[in-house]
Amino acid sequence: MFSAVEMAPRDPILGLNEQFAADTNPHKVNLGVGVYYDDNGKLPLLQCVQLAEKAMMDKPAARGYLPIDGIAAYDSAVKNLVFGAESEPVKSGRVATVQALGGTGGLKIGADFLKKLTPHAKVLISDPSWENHRALFSNAGFAVETYAYYDAAKRGVNFEGMLASLNAAAPGTIVVLHACCHNPTGYDLTPAQWDQVIAAIRAKGLTAFLDMAYQGFGHGIAEDGAVIQKFVAAGLTFFVATSFSKSFSLYGERVGALSVLCDSKDEADRVLSQLKIVIRTNYSNPPTHGGAVVAAVLNNPELRALWEKELGEMRTRIKAMRQALVDGLKAAGVQQDMSFITTQIGMFSYSGLSKEQMVRLRSEFGVYGTDTGRMCVAALNSKNIDHVCKAIAAVL
Ligand code: LMR
Repeated sequence: MFSAVEMAPRDPILGLNEQFAADTNPHKVNLGVGVYYDDNGKLPLLQCVQLAEKAMMDKPAARGYLPIDGIAAYDSAVKNLVFGAESEPVKSGRVATVQALGGTGGLKIGADFLKKLTPHAKVLISDPSWENHRALFSNAGFAVETYAYYDAAKRGVNFEGMLASLNAAAPGTIVVLHACCHNPTGYDLTPAQWDQVIAAIRAKGLTAFLDMAYQGFGHGIAEDGAVIQKFVAAGLTFFVATSFSKSFSLYGERVGALSVLCDSKDEADRVLSQLKIVIRTNYSNPPTHGGAVVAAVLNNPELRALWEKELGEMRTRIKAMRQALVDGLKAAGVQQDMSFITTQIGMFSYSGLSKEQMVRLRSEFGVYGTDTGRMCVAALNSKNIDHVCKAIAAVL
């Protein structure tokens, strides 16, 4: 039965973890996957999470099945975070939100729902985008193409190209957008550019699907989420996938959400009923722990403030590492201007290094980034930065 099954290629991001684990180089550094490590190279367990978990342990709860759409207090906390507790969409009940298995799970629930709703629509992802966007929407049955995004020569966004791609798209095309901290490039749109993108989406009748996996890693929770308000103000209906993997350092809990902004409460109720079918036929209902922790933090003013503080510290440390990387590369003898690293935001730097250079970094120096030249600067620290700078200088 399985004799014709071919070996699939390794995942371009998570596959690197497997290679990294097998590497015996004592100086190895994993800048592949988008994960934040502290200055000691440790994955943090946030204080706000520990306090919430302690309170939960003090009153242990049984683990029954959750509702298909997840914990009600979690879903409402997500709505409040994404749209604003006092916002019109939340007050009027026209947001359908479901708990999902991480941001990826939110994207997949949305993709499967859209495939039923608009089976012939095309999906546009940014060029380049997170590798899994293409795979996920292709596996949901869509034809996936790209819109222009990165301008390698200018080291920034090819905004004219992006607008031209959107203006050329057929009505109903699904456009996957990075709400903040573009993955992999680290280049975001300005607020004025977002206005133009939103105008094009509205004029052309496109369906926006926002992926918000890095809220808080750019400029702050509110600042990074501001684009949502712009879409609301434009009167659009749209999708938002939320992830708490990075912002709560809860990667393994797979805690995320999908929110769909509809025209009315009645529409949202019907959309929710369809999302529940997608969930029920995939994994029945979500797990309890991660959602309960995030809900406990977001719904408690003190823990919520502590979360903002801790997230701010992660953001500040990443920015310091960007500067340290620029300085370290210069000190290691790199002649070219690498200051673009500090204009990029979020967890990644799109280094511009070729696949061959990235392979050399891995094989000769144990420095792991993706083949596309993406490096996770959130995994740099004061102990590994010199090795990384010398390695990059050697392959440049
Ligand atoms: C990444 O881009 O590295 C992260 O989003 C992790 C993942 O699932 O790929």
